[in-house]
Amino acid sequence: MRGFLAVLGAVASLAGAALGQVDSSKYVDPETGFTFSQYVNEKGIAFRVAIPATAKANDNYEAVVQIAVPIAVGWAGLAWGGSMTYNPLTIVWVNGKDVVLSSRMAYGYYVPPAYDGAVYTVLKTGTHVNATHYQVTATCVGCTLWGDTDTGITAIDPTAQGTMAFAYAAAPVTTPSNNASSFSIHDLIGHWIHDFPTAVNANFNATVAKNA
Ligand code: HEM
Repeated sequence: MRGFLAVLGAVASLAGAALGQVDSSKYVDPETGFTFSQYVNEKGIAFRVAIPATAKANDNYEAVVQIAVPIAVGWAGLAWGGSMTYNPLTIVWVNGKDVVLSSRMAYGYYVPPAYDGAVYTVLKTGTHVNATHYQVTATCVGCTLWGDTDTGITAIDPTAQGTMAFAYAAAPVTTPSNNASSFSIHDLIGHWIHDFPTAVNANFNATVAKNA
């Protein structure tokens, strides 16, 4: 009897971990008007996602990504599927007064090459550099569904929570003006549970148009 109860207890706590532990929170951006679900890491880097109210599971719906980074950080990256390899990576760094966004996918634990399966459009409003931070805001098509029949298709369910991951390095990238630049390995990586329903925007298309 005691063993049976112990097993029940273990199952209950696992379910709690899967559903209860959301690490993101709601952030309404006063500048762009998007409602984001955001995660801020221990370095003060904010990773934000906005999605349309029309988004469906297993559909390659457009998303908006916003990443705000303390100016001293060399590069910061968001892994949409929560791991380094085989998922879209959104990498950002600063180049003088410009912010560079680079689409990558890693196929091993080495510098991830450019990835054209995710197509970004940088939005003018919400993309800037100031004395303390650099920030990019961009639409992405291909960030919510990826893979192929060999590796398997993965999609972000807009009605659920999903694991995302970040990486950053203090060192600047090799050639900041080139979005295909090489860069050195991260100083820190981390994973979190991101809540996607919080990221839903009823006026998604109009808000994209307003900030383009
Ligand atoms: C120069 C580029 C990079 C190198 C050489 C590199 C190398 C590595 C290595 C050696 C590990 C440890 C693997 C292990 O302990 O099993 C790792 C883990 C990881 N890396 Fe990178 N990495 C690079 C860029 C990136 C980028 C751009 C991201 C984007 C977010 C990233 C995200 C991660 C994550 C999340 C992990 C933890 C393991 C996982 O969840 O997959 N890495 N990386």
